[in-house]
Amino acid sequence: MPAYTTQQVLTALGNVEEPDLKKDLVTLNMVRDIAIDNNRISFTVVLTTPACPLKDLIERACVNAIHYFIDREIEVKVNFTSRVTGREGSRTVLSGVKNIIAVASGKGGVGKSTVAANIAVALAGDGAAVGLLDADIYGPSIPVMFGISGTQPSVVNKEGKNFMVPLQRYGVKVVSMGFIVKPEEAVVWRGPMISSALKQFINEVDWGELDYLIIDLPPGTGDIHITVSQGVPLSGALVVTTPQDVAVADARKALSMFRMPGLNVPILGVIENMAWFTPAELPENKYYVFGQGGGQKLASEFSVPLLGSIPLFMSVGESGDKGQPAAMRPDDEAGKAFVSLARSVAQQLAILNSVTRSKTGEAVS
Ligand SMILES: Nc1ncnc2c1ncn2[C@@H]1O[C@H](COP(=O)(O)OP(=O)(O)OP(=O)(O)O)[C@@H](O)[C@H]1O
Ligand SMILES: [Mg+2]
Repeated sequence: MPAYTTQQVLTALGNVEEPDLKKDLVTLNMVRDIAIDNNRISFTVVLTTPACPLKDLIERACVNAIHYFIDREIEVKVNFTSRVTGREGSRTVLSGVKNIIAVASGKGGVGKSTVAANIAVALAGDGAAVGLLDADIYGPSIPVMFGISGTQPSVVNKEGKNFMVPLQRYGVKVVSMGFIVKPEEAVVWRGPMISSALKQFINEVDWGELDYLIIDLPPGTGDIHITVSQGVPLSGALVVTTPQDVAVADARKALSMFRMPGLNVPILGVIENMAWFTPAELPENKYYVFGQGGGQKLASEFSVPLLGSIPLFMSVGESGDKGQPAAMRPDDEAGKAFVSLARSVAQQLAILNSVTRSKTGEAVS
């Protein structure tokens, strides 16, 4: 029986490419804990997203590489774990948060808050540490969607400074501007006042360590958007649209805003919501009630990915009103759609992070 070496395993796995990051697993430092026991070899692959959609593909490629480059008879066991990557090294604002994602749309009522809430719940369901910040000072809807309206967060004192403690719900740490300002009061606030309240608010929450912080923005392209884009180290923005032309036109404004030289926020991709309607009794039929292809058109125009198309589901509206986001039930059709969307978002972030890191010469680890 030949004794295999760790080096042989690494050399073999050096031939397996991470399909998104376009480098091999060894260069990316994704292989850990290699154990060799006669003709059994096991190791762990450290993925960069909590539930990587490419896991099965990577597993097969690893097994094939060991068989091809070392020996067909080897029994291979691939374990998986994940460590979400972040973009920068150290920063002062929100230093414990690896990735900050803004959800915007331009047009109101297209489902930003629904998408933000469900992505947050889905990522948490996949095992990530997730926070959700409702920055919609004029119409905060996250507290309703999480069934926590009327609840007040507590305050903790750290080194003489007060911090708000997020409410924990469905595995997500939730904080809403609605906790501190009543929407009817905010209406009469001027831009600078809103900006300073928001800045203070963002820095005075005890988020702890987070893999992802999702920020639900109000509709439009106003002061709050500028404040968040300039005052928060955003990893990227998600732009939600519905398929019809009017929504796409407003989403285009949001995309252009993030691309403005003064803001320069990377766009993770477009999400098309209410893409079609499928009646439960006719599961094969798709009715394009708001038109077709708007999301793809917008994504192509800006050369960004269309990360997902979410159909209209009766249950999505109902669960939002009941304070139980659809993603809490990942086996339902609506839940599945949001889980798959959240995984695409995480995947896109990992790609973006790896590109930024290789530009700065840092290794992905
Ligand atoms: N895919 C969907 N299927 C069914 N209903 C949906 C879907 N997405 C959102 N809705 C419903 O549409 C309404 C508007 O959604 P939501 O509040 O998320 O939009 P918004 O873009 O955040 O709005 P605003 O601009 O006011 O912040 C809500 O009642 C929500 O439940
Ligand atoms: Mg909203």
